[in-house]
Amino acid sequence: MAKPVSGFSKKNKEEKVQWLVSTFLNDDSLANSTLKQYWNTNKKLQKLHDGFIENTISNYYLPFAIAPNFLINNSIYTIPMVIEESSVVAAASNTAKFWLDKGGFTTEVISTTKNGQIHINFFGNNTEIQNFFSEIKPDLFNSITSIEKNMKKRGGGLLDISLVNSTESLEGYFQLHCTFETNDAMGANFINTCLEEIAKTFENIAKTHSVFIANNTFPEVAISILSNYVPECLVRASVQCPVEQLSSNGIDGKTFANKFVRAVAIASVEKRRAVTHNKGIMNGVDAVILATGNDFRAVEAGVHSYAAKDGNYTSLTSAKVENGVFKFSIEIPLALGTIGGLTSLHPLVKLAFDILQKPNAKELMQIVAVAGLAQNFAALRSLVTTGIQKGHMKMHLMNILNQLEATTTEKEKAIPYFKENTISHSSVVSYIDKLRS
Ligand code: MEV
Repeated sequence: MAKPVSGFSKKNKEEKVQWLVSTFLNDDSLANSTLKQYWNTNKKLQKLHDGFIENTISNYYLPFAIAPNFLINNSIYTIPMVIEESSVVAAASNTAKFWLDKGGFTTEVISTTKNGQIHINFFGNNTEIQNFFSEIKPDLFNSITSIEKNMKKRGGGLLDISLVNSTESLEGYFQLHCTFETNDAMGANFINTCLEEIAKTFENIAKTHSVFIANNTFPEVAISILSNYVPECLVRASVQCPVEQLSSNGIDGKTFANKFVRAVAIASVEKRRAVTHNKGIMNGVDAVILATGNDFRAVEAGVHSYAAKDGNYTSLTSAKVENGVFKFSIEIPLALGTIGGLTSLHPLVKLAFDILQKPNAKELMQIVAVAGLAQNFAALRSLVTTGIQKGHMKMHLMNILNQLEATTTEKEKAIPYFKENTISHSSVVSYIDKLRS
């Protein structure tokens, strides 16, 4: 069993690798060949990446791809995507092309408010804390004047603070619910800094307040943190066209539209289907979030909690046919940044923003929502017609062939063969075995 290691973070990269090899890998060549082959020869670039996190020992590559031909609000976009799943980018590109001559995607930012809470323990009288809050609310605003100076110049900052009595859910539990506008910044650092300052001010004034002193019961800050639940930071994307234009994979438009609407209806009422349905949406969303250096965990948490906002986890997309017109849309919360964080640090993120023609946060919200809607369209289109595996395995074929170290000649034979035959890992293995024997 490995022993605990002390002072690990102080070791240099080479020492960390050596420790890893001698503790776990028993094979020096593995460290050299696997870890070091991903070290960038450009030392400055490597240093930049090493600095993003602690204890970096290598770089972990994911493909950076582009999906062209997205018509969004009458402008053409090429969307950068970072993802490992074989069929996602192909699905995005196909869907973009499908909607290109049907009016493309229409989007709208509904709201951009972010929020955070100062969670408070107070076991005194409700009216006392309410009156106290009303009295000191201006002081709470004043406490962050210097922190929000620059944000205010850009038209953002703290919007409001309200005291929420949550004692019915948990004894002695109150919140200072704070709302913010953070413009083109995702705003996590800004919000958390503001919250901690407001919390300190709140607690300090409370300590000297006569009412609390009289009862010897003081409000105490439990935690202060932004919320990744952002239902007031919403974007909508949609497509629509006459049903006749939807004929797909040999199915007439009207039948396709009905099957499609039915599939969305199933995801709206059945949680097990809804989760997978929404996972497909996140294939598109996360790929753009990663390419643009945003926080995909925050987005995932926010989007899935939004899918359950009414108490039942449901589809994030809606579809209907109205007067012969197929209408398909998505509404999701996205707290994104186009400045700050990795956006000005990671060269590929900077490039992703250039590809997207330097969008602001609102524009990025719209592009990401489109990527999610497109991905859901592609998945459902396959699911209600050919089934998902045909396209999926077609894309996955290359992975299997590469895994088997197939030569170019073998690949040239395998690709047409598997156009006509079912692809599975074992069928590809036996086909390649046959070729080789
Ligand atoms: C696979 O990554 C995503 C799908 O399962 C989505 C769906 O079922 O809608 C194909």
